[in-house]
Amino acid sequence: MKDSQPKTIHLKDYTVPPFLIDKTELTFDLDEATTVVTSRLHMRRNPECGKSNAPLVLDGGEDVKLIALAMDDYTLPEGEYQQEDNKLIITATADEFVLTCETLIEPQNNTSLEGLYRSSSMFCTQCEAEGFRHITYYLDRPDVMSVFTTTIIADESRYPVMLSNGNEVEKGKTEEGKTFVVWHDPFPKPAYLFALVAGDLAVKNDTFITQSQREVTLQIFTEPHNLDKVDYAMEALKRSMRWDEETYGREYDLDIFMIVAVDDFNMGAMENKGLNIFNSSCLLASPKTTTDDSYLRVEAIVAHEYFHNWSGNRVTCRDWFQLSLKEGFTVFRDQTFSADMHSETVKRVEDVSFLKTAQFAEDAGPMSHPIRPASFIEISNFYTLTVYEKGAEVVRMVHTLLGPEKFRAGSDLYFDRHDGQAVTCDDFIAAMQDASGVDLTVFKRWYSQSGTPNVTVTDAFDSATGSYRLTMKQETPVTQNQPNPLPLHIPVRVGLLDASGQAISANLHDESSEDHVLHLNTEEQVFEFTGLNAKPIPSLLRGFSAPVKLHYDYSTADLLLLMSSDTDGFNRWSAAQQLAVNELTLLIEQAKAGKELSINSQLVKGFKALVNDKTLDPAMVALILTLPSQAYLSELANPIYPAAIKKARHHLKVLVAKALADEFESLYNTHKVTGEYQATAEDIAHRSLKNLALSYWVETDNELAQKIVFDQYQSADNMTDQFSALTTAVHSKHEKAADMLASFYEQWKEEPLVVNKWLMLSACQESEDAVAKVKALMEHPAFDLKNPNKVRSVLGGFGQNLSGFHHSDGSGYRFLADQIIVLNKRNPQIASRLCTPLTRWKKMEPALSAKMKAELERILAEDLSKDVFEVISKSLA
Ligand code: TRP
Ligand code: ZN
Repeated sequence: MKDSQPKTIHLKDYTVPPFLIDKTELTFDLDEATTVVTSRLHMRRNPECGKSNAPLVLDGGEDVKLIALAMDDYTLPEGEYQQEDNKLIITATADEFVLTCETLIEPQNNTSLEGLYRSSSMFCTQCEAEGFRHITYYLDRPDVMSVFTTTIIADESRYPVMLSNGNEVEKGKTEEGKTFVVWHDPFPKPAYLFALVAGDLAVKNDTFITQSQREVTLQIFTEPHNLDKVDYAMEALKRSMRWDEETYGREYDLDIFMIVAVDDFNMGAMENKGLNIFNSSCLLASPKTTTDDSYLRVEAIVAHEYFHNWSGNRVTCRDWFQLSLKEGFTVFRDQTFSADMHSETVKRVEDVSFLKTAQFAEDAGPMSHPIRPASFIEISNFYTLTVYEKGAEVVRMVHTLLGPEKFRAGSDLYFDRHDGQAVTCDDFIAAMQDASGVDLTVFKRWYSQSGTPNVTVTDAFDSATGSYRLTMKQETPVTQNQPNPLPLHIPVRVGLLDASGQAISANLHDESSEDHVLHLNTEEQVFEFTGLNAKPIPSLLRGFSAPVKLHYDYSTADLLLLMSSDTDGFNRWSAAQQLAVNELTLLIEQAKAGKELSINSQLVKGFKALVNDKTLDPAMVALILTLPSQAYLSELANPIYPAAIKKARHHLKVLVAKALADEFESLYNTHKVTGEYQATAEDIAHRSLKNLALSYWVETDNELAQKIVFDQYQSADNMTDQFSALTTAVHSKHEKAADMLASFYEQWKEEPLVVNKWLMLSACQESEDAVAKVKALMEHPAFDLKNPNKVRSVLGGFGQNLSGFHHSDGSGYRFLADQIIVLNKRNPQIASRLCTPLTRWKKMEPALSAKMKAELERILAEDLSKDVFEVISKSLA
């Protein structure tokens, strides 16, 4: 541990910046050895700041070397400024002045990938959240918005492409024969949206005509060998631009929009104004190298970053506590976009399944926080599933409460009222409330309370009056930081079914409908439906109308009925999941007690009916037939017995496979897709059902199924089918699995993105010696500790490997802790994210829990980055 503990920053301490920067002029003299950055900041005192003699405190220091500093024409001697604690302090300043600052940085030695760094042979930047201070001294906070002009100087033979935000306004030669390019971005922006790229890049050009008939140049830049993989992203970009015009009335504002793909990137992508930078894994796509899932991910992330142009850039965040203002809203926007492009129900199931698995687990763990955190040590740790995914659920609830028209009026008001400003989550809710007249006072508590609320429902039917009463109770978990949680405003969408599965039109508050939104906004409420002649079966929380845990004592017959007949497609999936969870829970108990596993599965009955239901989207059939993941079962368990979960899930999978072997064989054959590969919803749906069927069928030890796995692997003309066959072979312990893995690497070793998938699958492989295997993988030529995608593949994959990571001798935990300690120095953001599986120690079975805790303590004894310190110390608290 460090001698001085990193300090906690609180939302309640927010004050406006004492200075503003109207104009920022930057010059980068790029070089492999040292890069010289010169800044001219046109500053003045902020009239809204009460203190007229506050000192000027600029962020920066760590890796920035100060060469010269001047105020207007006066060069500041060393005594007239101080440098401490990564700040540059100037005590005496005028009210308005130009600060000139010359600094040296070494991008080639930047391994944290924050600020200016090198990826392959290019220079690139990542400034969100606080990366700009690694480039030069600045007021590096989102409420300081400035108009940027950027000059890039480099040797044109090695860096023919030089990009920054906005429009290119000038190009020429310097006296030394280097090339310079000047970019100007007319829209004021915070420093976190600054970007610079220089390299020998190839480009794909296109154009987009906006709704007001302006022509926008679109450009996607990659290393030359990847230019054949950008067509899909370009089409996705044009679809996103059109959709934002049609759905939100938002038009693009500059004359040019550029995207650059880089191989080394800490996250998925970044919405820098006019110059988005992408992790190549989230941009490049081709049928032979990219799976269906990755195609959809590329489309969603291209859309997400594009949508930030309004929700994030034109209207930005006042401070980093407001991160969900842009991220929650933008995730909601990209989710709706993907739903519109493909299938709404399929998209909803995928998003909710992810939320309930990963975000619920985060919200029940030591890093649990509200979507608007009240404090942090390191903001990078708060780019979380809670801020993003739960944040999107909160915006979705606003949409449900207001309805589509009023929601649109609210978003119009928000964008118009706050264009060019840095604002808060309260401002967003105020706009929604003002435009709609809907009172969101109680609803706003979602922004300040953490944890997943429990909603418990009981019911009663009165045959004399024909009234059906639903009683709902809500309870938000009490935690150390949250001793007295208040009731939330929870929209609960409900429908009623009769015994034959028909939808009932019931009266609630004199309104007759097959679908009602109930407003649960106190601790306990009763909702009375009238005009019924028998006790109905309630379909609760349709479409997952709120991010809560719903408890209602469904009988197996109820669940089978909902699964086969509910008009809400989402709840058909949800009922199947609940039924599977019920059966798996029994099996897990048997496994824990060392008993032989045995169950009279009713799920099999439901599945049998389902595979014969020709009205359903095959993608939905595939989702319903997918058993709850080990990760989701772990989220539900307390404590978690990993080996029992694995055993139980495998038992049920084999049981279903054997009971429905013929059905799976026939599904496999009927859902083959012919013709050229297309990433359309229809083809993706068929492939997903076909490949899921094969993964069941092969569990019956049928020789034909095993042969088909191998044949499909060998003859597939697209990565979805090839990789799916390989995954099935590995997980079913196919006799040729090892050969197939080896040949896959040989086939694809020149395609890093495919190799990353291979690394991930290899690291997930369950076996007694999984720890030794993953250690060997890190010695493999395909591995590179400098590349976050490779680290995520191997160490992220290993974290999900139950027999490896959770090995009873603790060797899996020790191994991961060793890697965290190494990465803590090189790349704190990546190291911090790798801690997640260890932080769940309190929920593990006692023998494992103690071993995890010991590793956390060993990490805490090291000299830690703020990032890792915050996560480790909070998980031990
Ligand atoms: N704002 C980015 C997004 O679209 C997130 C992001 C990209 C990021 N790179 C980062 C956040 C680095 C922190 C650090 O969601
Ligand atoms: Zn985002």
